[in-house]
Amino acid sequence: MNRLLTSLADVVGPSHVLVDPELTASYETDWTGRFTGRAPAVVRPGSAGEVAAVMALLHEAGRAVVPQGGNTGLVGGGVPLHGEVVVSLRRLDAIDEVDVAAGQVTVGAGATAAAVDDAAARVGLAFGVDLAARQSATVGGMVATNAGGLRMLRYGGMRAQTAGVEAVLADGRVVSHLGGLTKDNTGYDLAGLLAGSEGTLAVVTRVRLRLVPRLAHRTTGLLAFADPDAALEALVGLRRRLPDLLEAAELFLADGLRLVCGHLGIPPPFGRLDPVYLLVEGAGVSDPTEELAAAVIEVVGDRAPAGAVEAEPAGRARLWRYREAHTEAINAAGVPVKLDVTLPAGELAGFLADAPAAVGRVAPAARCVLFGHAGDGNVHVNVLGVHEPGPRPGTEAAAVEDAVLRLVAGRGGSISSEHGIGTAKRPWLHLNRSPAEIDVFRAIKRALDPDGILNPHVLLPERDARTGELG
Ligand code: MLT
Ligand code: ZN
Repeated sequence: MNRLLTSLADVVGPSHVLVDPELTASYETDWTGRFTGRAPAVVRPGSAGEVAAVMALLHEAGRAVVPQGGNTGLVGGGVPLHGEVVVSLRRLDAIDEVDVAAGQVTVGAGATAAAVDDAAARVGLAFGVDLAARQSATVGGMVATNAGGLRMLRYGGMRAQTAGVEAVLADGRVVSHLGGLTKDNTGYDLAGLLAGSEGTLAVVTRVRLRLVPRLAHRTTGLLAFADPDAALEALVGLRRRLPDLLEAAELFLADGLRLVCGHLGIPPPFGRLDPVYLLVEGAGVSDPTEELAAAVIEVVGDRAPAGAVEAEPAGRARLWRYREAHTEAINAAGVPVKLDVTLPAGELAGFLADAPAAVGRVAPAARCVLFGHAGDGNVHVNVLGVHEPGPRPGTEAAAVEDAVLRLVAGRGGSISSEHGIGTAKRPWLHLNRSPAEIDVFRAIKRALDPDGILNPHVLLPERDARTGELG
């Protein structure tokens, strides 16, 4: 190892090979505190060339690697749970000049979502993917996890916004296709393949991003409902009535709101706790307030006993805070078991009603906080108060995961909506993917990373060492 560390230091400089536990600690634990490992080293290359040289050395040494961006992942896919070397991409944060004619920009993997959006704003454009972790989440990690976020409804997720990538393969070779041409039928779509590959196929170093027009006017509405059915029916009506305006449709419930208000020390929206809330945002080239307010009156009517519509930035931020502070309020209350799932539209209300009971059957003292991106059928299931929340088989946490993911699959949903499979959901991949599909995944993995050094404990289920059967 010492020889390897010296060689790595020769490439990136000694100050960018971290081995002191005090310096490596923040790279070793995920955001929730649920996933913690220990890395023999954290390597911080400063260019794609350095990433290539680092990977060549690690490949030659047969060392497993976890690529890491802003470390905002939530499924244990970006931390060294099995003693892997962490390769941090954060120093690759350069943002090229925006190509205004193409409406695209090429950025380093370490550029944050907020920095990309700021660069786009300077020429009247915007980054189409927005998420609560915008100040820390990096573009490379967002591609690797095919991040979704708050505007998926209108613009799609990272795969849709990625027009090309540059990436370093396990052995240090570089593949680069950053032209960003709209029509380009020249073979396999590597950018599309790397989106959602969770660091198992290559290390993303640069990304060609599509940008979207920056809409000058935005209005946010917060509506309270007596039950999920009423909220979801209202959303169907609003989507029909405002097909070109609606950009976000978020949902949260009384339990989550109570946590948020306690954490931030603020009163609930309408001076009381209602069972269900829908936060909607419209954006346009002209002020959408009147159209949104009219749609709310016409479509939602007295389905919503309380509501507010805000067009001023401070008022909008006040409404968004109730939704966006869910993650931090939950983390402040304990180490959550987080499950991020998609339900078919027709199954969403039933799932919201059934999930707490399914959790309660296997973890009677647990508390289930549900919120998410209603427009995409994406529910974030956060379970607090689980005895032994760590990611180990045979624990109450594993029973909670099993109960929720089976409920989702039984209703025709996806066990990973936007956070990825990571290490957390690997044992349940078979609920959504057939043996033939998983075989194809393995073949792709073998083709790009024959020695299995790239994030080897992520995404693909482990084979049982004795029987060779998939776990
Ligand atoms: C969110 O929508 O706020 C994020 O996915 C983070 C989370 O699920 O906690
Ligand atoms: Zn989310």
